[in-house]
Amino acid sequence: MKVARFSKVGFILAAAGSAVGLGNIWKFPYMTGENGGGAFVLIYLLTITFIGVSLFLAEVLIGQISRKDAVSAFETLSPIKNNIWKYAGYMVFTGVLVLSFYTVVVGWIFKYIYISIFSLPTDIKLAGDAFNGMVGNEIGIQLFTFTIAFALIIWIVSKGVIKGIEKVNLVLMPALIFILVLLFFYAISLDGFGQAVSFLFVPDWSKVTSNSILAAVGQAFFTLSLGVGTIITYAVSLPKDTNLVKSSIIVAAMDTAIALFAGLIIFTFIFHFNAAPTQGAGLVFISLPPLFSQMGIMGNVIGFLFFVALAFAGITSAVSMIEPSILYLTNRHKMSRKKALSILGTAIYILGTLALLSNTKEFSEVLKFSGKGFFNILDFLSSSILMPLAGIMIAIFVGYFIQKERIYATLSPYLNDRVFNLWYFTIKYIIPIAVSAVMINKIFF
Ligand code: TRP
Repeated sequence: MKVARFSKVGFILAAAGSAVGLGNIWKFPYMTGENGGGAFVLIYLLTITFIGVSLFLAEVLIGQISRKDAVSAFETLSPIKNNIWKYAGYMVFTGVLVLSFYTVVVGWIFKYIYISIFSLPTDIKLAGDAFNGMVGNEIGIQLFTFTIAFALIIWIVSKGVIKGIEKVNLVLMPALIFILVLLFFYAISLDGFGQAVSFLFVPDWSKVTSNSILAAVGQAFFTLSLGVGTIITYAVSLPKDTNLVKSSIIVAAMDTAIALFAGLIIFTFIFHFNAAPTQGAGLVFISLPPLFSQMGIMGNVIGFLFFVALAFAGITSAVSMIEPSILYLTNRHKMSRKKALSILGTAIYILGTLALLSNTKEFSEVLKFSGKGFFNILDFLSSSILMPLAGIMIAIFVGYFIQKERIYATLSPYLNDRVFNLWYFTIKYIIPIAVSAVMINKIFF
């Protein structure tokens, strides 16, 4: 009993380690800032509640009943022989695209661990100059921190020491939450807080475009690690009697709470300093350091801990992006873990370097395609196109191709019939229709 219980918590920890990452603290606030605030947040929350949790559960289900890598899972669970469903499993390679630019951001965080100790900018203008200077001009330093981040992630995956990392996370995740709560209470005392609350929670529909709707849906997928086979892969080693439903809800709720906290804190400081919410990818790096700087030596300590904890949150997420393709390559192509990792690692290092360079003045023109830098293309392609498409496929697969009896048998211990029917209806109709509508809307309007 004791062992099973530990493993169940283990799944929640692993899934939460994957879900909670830079998506919550770096990406969610800046996307919200760029897309006008409240309406974006509302669409994001609706997507998580009505689509995200259901899809999360669908991915858990696929992993749990197939107990195979994503490609083999689609292949064996599909009733059609010689079927094309296995191609849906290639969603695992989206993880490579995500990891490329994600590693660049982990590199930035490494630099900010250093900055927290030695050179916190004293006001928001300087903080903006520091961040934009780093991203636009400092190729050497960025390549250096990117390479360290890359090496660390690859080393963790190659050693399979993710269990060890999760133990570290057991300390650092609460530390991150603790720091966020601390900053939150500080934020409440500032004038900017009221503005932050209305910016995040009062929808301004005039700011909504087909682009921002798709971005909100994409962000919901990104933050829950959906559409890459990550959750499928983690659910493979789930103990049989885990409460799948409860675990999914806990992870989604925790993930959402952390993103909202981060948003409230960051925007309070932004408004406190009279800065614009539209700082782009630099938002968290521009809004927090000047504040840490005002706190004196305490600020150095808090800043240091904050960025260290954030780096770890990012690394556990990073590892979870690559595991699905590793499992696929080692299982199906009988590759050694080393070989699979060197192939994937090479792709990630090359794409990541190009993403990094695409933000610099020197190379931004060469690495721009139809007006978008390569860094942003990787992000847009994965979050706004490939993950939602994969989500549609997962929903159709679970809704129409796996026998309902089988699904019911797996899930019924954990939910009553009414909730099951609601979930099944969401999977069969709501998700395919709503997500395609959002994507088609973006193409035509
Ligand atoms: N969810 C993570 C975050 O918010 C990122 C992440 C981890 C991810 N694994 C993933 C995103 C798989 C997409 C797919 O930072």
